[in-house]
Amino acid sequence: MTQWWRDAVVYQIYPRSFADGNADGTGDFTGALARLPYLAELGVDAVWFSPFYPSPLADGGYDVADYCDVDPRFGTLADFDAFVAAAAGHGIRVIVDVVPNHCSSAHPAFQAALAAGPGSPERDLFIFRDAPNNWQSIFGGPAWTQTPDGQWYLHLFDSSQPDWNWANPAVPAMFEKVLRFWLDRGVAGLRVDVAHGLFKDPQLPDVPDPAPSDRPSPWFHRPELVAHYATWRAILDSYPADVFPGRRTAVGEFWGDEITHLEPYFIPGGMPQAFNFFLFQTAWNAAALRQTITASLALAEGSDVVAPWVISNHDVMRPVSRYGAPAPARSDAEVDVALGTRRARAAALLLLALPGSAYVYQGEELGLPEFLDIPAADRDDPVYRRTGGARLGRDGCRVPMPWSGTAAPYGFGEGGATWLPQPDGWAALTVEAQRADPGSTLALYRAAIAGRPSGEFRWLDGYDLAFTRGDDFACLVNLGTEPAELPAYESVLLASGGLPGGALPPDTAVWLRLR
Ligand code: GLC
Repeated sequence: MTQWWRDAVVYQIYPRSFADGNADGTGDFTGALARLPYLAELGVDAVWFSPFYPSPLADGGYDVADYCDVDPRFGTLADFDAFVAAAAGHGIRVIVDVVPNHCSSAHPAFQAALAAGPGSPERDLFIFRDAPNNWQSIFGGPAWTQTPDGQWYLHLFDSSQPDWNWANPAVPAMFEKVLRFWLDRGVAGLRVDVAHGLFKDPQLPDVPDPAPSDRPSPWFHRPELVAHYATWRAILDSYPADVFPGRRTAVGEFWGDEITHLEPYFIPGGMPQAFNFFLFQTAWNAAALRQTITASLALAEGSDVVAPWVISNHDVMRPVSRYGAPAPARSDAEVDVALGTRRARAAALLLLALPGSAYVYQGEELGLPEFLDIPAADRDDPVYRRTGGARLGRDGCRVPMPWSGTAAPYGFGEGGATWLPQPDGWAALTVEAQRADPGSTLALYRAAIAGRPSGEFRWLDGYDLAFTRGDDFACLVNLGTEPAELPAYESVLLASGGLPGGALPPDTAVWLRLR
């Protein structure tokens, strides 16, 4: 039975910022439904929705107050079902985000735990202690908050996101129901938030270095996870595979400081997919990228787990701004947008030529830069607040999509304020403008998705960063400072920029049909 997700292109929708159907400045399912033809035209196989569940939106919806409903700001369950049905009409599958490490402090179970008091079974669904340890929140500041009765609770993220106690069997039992709730509604898969979290060392020991990191620790990459995800795999595989949407999948958000930290998840019968974030964690450097790609491919070898490639998502700086500045930029003036755009376009051809699945984050296909100059008063990400502005946070990549027109809100809603402001100067980046331009980044993504290669991957020696797929396809990326000669070829399939004099300029990628 085919596993559709093994080489799928999946489009990530951040619901607040994708498309606004009711003109309140926040995206919703009605808006997304109206933009389905756009996704079909782009040619994606599936969409993944970041959380749309009832939530105080203290962390953009990754603070879930009810796992089995839709927040009224995004619509209703009926709107969700309508989207799934209409998407199926285009052959597009839907993946939903499951957030198992923590919930919102507004979740009824956490409210009940607060009310029930120390030592209660309600509190045992979370991690309450009489005294905190020295762990730090990923978002900055301590990972513990004190309640009025004196006890403290653990939150690896914001204080409004209490961690579930996965050692209490009621927690996995509850999540099994959540999984089935969405799978029964016809979703094709789950994206699992903080998949390397969940279980904690029961001793909750102090650590020598409490600075947040993604290496194995008393809170990340615990050994219990492997057996746990095998149980989720069994649930996924228990659904019929022979009718649309086919075999169900899950993709885990596993961060590691090193590729080896992900090794335990690549076993037969594990979670079907584990995100590979190393591509965007690697600098714009040929040797480094080569090493990352080689190590990533080796990781998946011999297991039935695949590691989708990613160059952007809602948590990291947009590629244009990342590749367009020598160090992480803090203001728009520090970014060379022309350089960043050239590199981001080359990275897109790399992303879509690699073997396996690729995830594309909304706006990546438009070559949007990060909006770094969002006024402090408009910032929403708890990372900004919890670090006193030392970290700008992730708002700059979550700005509402520019659809049309020459000024904000660029066709997002109908003219009122959007939940995050959009910058000036995006007129040429709108979908409308790029649709009309065969040289646009949107046109490049569409052509690349339509023309993705297949066949065996082999490095092509003698070039900076080049490989073949099958017998006659080659992808070459020039990360050097001089134009590079091309090998003998029959035709140019796609190029991220011009090829003056028949050579590949710096910061450019090309797809060739070889002789
Ligand atoms: C994941 C999400 C991120 C969120 C965090 C806490 O990393 O991708 O957006 O803030 O988990 O839920």
